[in-house]
Amino acid sequence: MEDNATMIVCPSKGDIRTAVNHLRGRGRTIGLVPTMGALHEGHMALVARAAELADRVVATIFVNPTQFGPNEDLSTYPRTLERDLQMLREAGVAAVFAPEPGEMYHTEAQTVVETTGLSRVLMGRLRPGHFRGVATVVTKLFNIVQPDIAVFGEKDYQQLAVIRTMVRDLDIPVRIEGVPTQRAPDGLALSSRNARLTEAQRAAAPVLSQAMAEAAELLAEGETAEIARARIARLIAAEPLAQLRSADIRDAASLAPVRGRPARPVVILLAVRFGDVTLIDQRVVQTRGEPT
Ligand code: PAF
Repeated sequence: MEDNATMIVCPSKGDIRTAVNHLRGRGRTIGLVPTMGALHEGHMALVARAAELADRVVATIFVNPTQFGPNEDLSTYPRTLERDLQMLREAGVAAVFAPEPGEMYHTEAQTVVETTGLSRVLMGRLRPGHFRGVATVVTKLFNIVQPDIAVFGEKDYQQLAVIRTMVRDLDIPVRIEGVPTQRAPDGLALSSRNARLTEAQRAAAPVLSQAMAEAAELLAEGETAEIARARIARLIAAEPLAQLRSADIRDAASLAPVRGRPARPVVILLAVRFGDVTLIDQRVVQTRGEPT
């Protein structure tokens, strides 16, 4: 079989394991791009990065139920499998693992993976159990595919920190690579959830990146984290369709809370609700303030 000409689509763990063994051939490296489908240019940037770093790219499409809370959007999360497969095929992906929940989770599954500190702060406080679901499914995907490299978006900044920490703590032999957030021309971070916004909400949504840009400017000028955060809250409150869920300014490396004038790079983490859709965004800022 010519494994760089056709894309193999595997619904079962056994099939993807066989496909990956074949792709690996004589020492070829495997780059993994885990996704929940509803692909957009942000995902395709992950695929492109994986293709730069590894000999063969494997993608996964799985809307993971364990990372959604009881009142979250699992049932309405966009599902566009045929279109997704076409996009991955055109991008030269070698194999796709697209299981059903019953294939991924044993009916009596009782084992979870959790980064106990990182998963309970920030978005983890707003979405209890979310990062445990992410860490568990990503560990399972790593065990099933056994990639050399795995690529994730920096938009989900806390998710990336959780995955890096979990890989470090559990000695998982995979290199984790982050890819900068891809944006629409008006600044809105690309996200599968953008498809669920009404026209008016979509027009209002760039307020996230605008608020972060203003806060970043303040921080870069030496203003305090409190002033920058207050500016974000004011700008979001001025947009009638937007409701602020959280705005945090944290140490970019450790995600520890930051007060006063930050002396080290910080990350702005923002979650804003439009109707029943919550959008998140992030921005890392190099600061020049002295600690107060
Ligand atoms: O970022 C996502 O799409 C998901 O959280 C991931 C990493 C594929 C796990 O389900």
